[in-house]
Amino acid sequence: MNALSRGPVAWILDRLHREGEIADREHVRAIMATIEASGTTLEQAAAQMIAEERADYRTIYHGYADNFLAVSPTYGRFLYAIARACKATRIVEFGTSMGVSTIYLAAALRDNGGGQLIGSELEPAKVARARANLDAAGLADLVDIREGDGLETLCDVDGEVDLLLIDGAFALYLPVLKLVEPRLKPGAVVLGENAFDPGYLEYIRNPANGYVSQSLPLDEGRGNEFTVRAS
Ligand SMILES: C[S@@+](CC[C@H](N)C(=O)[O-])C[C@H]1O[C@@H](n2cnc3c(N)ncnc32)[C@H](O)[C@@H]1O
Repeated sequence: MNALSRGPVAWILDRLHREGEIADREHVRAIMATIEASGTTLEQAAAQMIAEERADYRTIYHGYADNFLAVSPTYGRFLYAIARACKATRIVEFGTSMGVSTIYLAAALRDNGGGQLIGSELEPAKVARARANLDAAGLADLVDIREGDGLETLCDVDGEVDLLLIDGAFALYLPVLKLVEPRLKPGAVVLGENAFDPGYLEYIRNPANGYVSQSLPLDEGRGNEFTVRAS
């Protein structure tokens, strides 16, 4: 049996997905209602959110301090599988929240024989909850969650990175990629969850920048981009 499907990891993930669904229900409903009322598309709504984040992402995400905004169970299993497939031992995550995606990735590290995941999260209360969740899942020894702005806390990532998950402020995907880019080893996987920023997509889909990238038909509408560092 793998670490994902049994024992504390499976129990904690099951609990966190249920808690997240309740905590985020009103937030999701409000977003959908705004989109319907304004007659905009999801892409237009995302563009609006990116513009607002550019003005002040810290305040916006502080307002989501109690929200999980977590990956779905389907995407989580994909995270585990891809981290296993590329035999990841070093993973960087931008946007930890309560640690749901972190648990999927750290479970893969465990089954890969060990390693390190460096996470980043703006909100101190979320960092505390993510650490407690990882502890309960028996994965805390594999994870270093850095509290504060990922643009600062991920500056000194050293060594080679096998997998980068970008899942924080929508407006920061490109700056975060460029920050970690020198550490990506050839063949490294970069996953953008909610990768809606046209600037990010334009950069990562341009082969001249050293990537092969395409959208992932998983959780359609969530802007999932799958990228491999090709050179
Ligand atoms: C979509 S949630 C992440 C969900 C998480 N990956 C999961 O699946 O459980 C985005 C998170 O990124 C955090 N965040 C936003 N901007 C950030 C920044 N500049 N540095 C670090 N964390 C940030 C937010 O506080 C929020 O908790």
